[in-house]
Amino acid sequence: MIHKELTSFPTHFLWGSASAAYQVEGAWDEDGKGPSVWDVFTKIPGKTYMGSNGDVAVDHYHRYKEDIALMAQMGLKAYRFSVSWPRIYPQGKGEVNEAGLQFYDDLINELLAHQIEPVLTLYHWDVPYALVEEYGAWESRQIIDDFNNNCITLYKRFGDRVKYWVSLNEQNYNTHHGFITALHPPGVQDRKRFYEANHIAFLANAKAIESFRTYVPDGKIGPSFAYSPAYPLTSDPKDILAYENAEEFTNHWWLDVYCWGIYPQIPYRYLLEQGLAPTIQEGDLELLQKGRPDFVGINYYQTITYEFNPLDGVAEGRFNSTGKKGSGEETGVPGLYKTMRNPHLETSNWDWAIDPIGLRVGMRRITSRYQLPVFITENGLGEFDRLEENDTVHDDYRIEYLRSHLEQCKQAIHDGVDLIGYCSWSFTDLLSWLNGYQKRYGFVYVNRDETDERDLRRIKKKSFYWYQDVIRTNGENL
Ligand code: BG6
Repeated sequence: MIHKELTSFPTHFLWGSASAAYQVEGAWDEDGKGPSVWDVFTKIPGKTYMGSNGDVAVDHYHRYKEDIALMAQMGLKAYRFSVSWPRIYPQGKGEVNEAGLQFYDDLINELLAHQIEPVLTLYHWDVPYALVEEYGAWESRQIIDDFNNNCITLYKRFGDRVKYWVSLNEQNYNTHHGFITALHPPGVQDRKRFYEANHIAFLANAKAIESFRTYVPDGKIGPSFAYSPAYPLTSDPKDILAYENAEEFTNHWWLDVYCWGIYPQIPYRYLLEQGLAPTIQEGDLELLQKGRPDFVGINYYQTITYEFNPLDGVAEGRFNSTGKKGSGEETGVPGLYKTMRNPHLETSNWDWAIDPIGLRVGMRRITSRYQLPVFITENGLGEFDRLEENDTVHDDYRIEYLRSHLEQCKQAIHDGVDLIGYCSWSFTDLLSWLNGYQKRYGFVYVNRDETDERDLRRIKKKSFYWYQDVIRTNGENL
């Protein structure tokens, strides 16, 4: 639909930016923090770009005041960050680490002192390594209670001041890479284990939300889903079916469980037949029902285009973690679908399709199917940036990416999407899990690379001033 005029962004729209503990904090073993699975995984040779890791990251742990001062200068209304579970419980459970709690207490108070709404993510992939050793982390149901206990500690401590919470970040992306491509820990390629671990993560998510209702009754909570709306490559019915398969297996499989507490029927039956369906125990479905969120958090970077894939067709292909455009390969599930480059869309240097309209399409699909508010918990462009003379970074490509996506947010609001906020990814540059420090996302450049921490100095990019103006005008000047 084409609107003649557009509604403005809502008055209390959450203009934000996001990060995750492992990607920014550093201080990986300070003040009683235990190791997380990523502290261990990144040290295994060959796992990340140039062996990069988050030992120091961008040193946000020590520089959070400087970073928040920059946020305040920009006029940011919300900051989404995650709490590192092993900073709170070094062993994953048992004795709580007061110094860890104190760090987040200080961070939250500093944000509030600058009128920045804290948006707290309960889990952004850094499970305590002790739980990996003890029972295989997400592969055991024991994690449900341990995670719930960690969450309750956070609700009790911060629930008086933090009103927006994100439960699990990108459970879909993290388990996919953990158990199918083996690119994330635990580095396994096993579809059965993938569906089992993912089911346990659903239960942990639901249990954490159930507890939230008791401890933070006036707060709002939802998961952050890595949302890549599916497109068919052509109108060939075989491609349409492949695209339907992709929607069911890559989107509805998660969103239906989060929002309705039930698995979608068609993929479930297929997985049963293949012997891959997760084990559902008595009480599981009741618990999933209790985990319904207040909003759907979406991390949107791209749409994915699909075509027919025969039974002897393409499986997982190579992943571009170097920034060498075109080095990523098509990937698929034989008999279901395979991905194809969309001829209508440009891609980033990491081969991610750039599709602002896809964001509108995705938000509308969520609104129509689930009738829930949407919170964009991540959206951004990872690119090479160049530090130029007099400490300047001319990241016009990032401004264009963000601007075009925000324009589509405005359209979507007019379409009828209840959009409560938008967090760009990210505020400062940070560690891009597999892609090192050269894939930059921030409004603020951090002077370091994979091999040299340099002085970690903060430098405002051109996009910093652009977003400052967007916020000042509540999205009127895009
Ligand atoms: C999401 C994650 O997958 O996208 C972030 O929630 C991540 O943690 C971001 O950094 C961008 O992905 P990448 O792989 O380019 O860092």
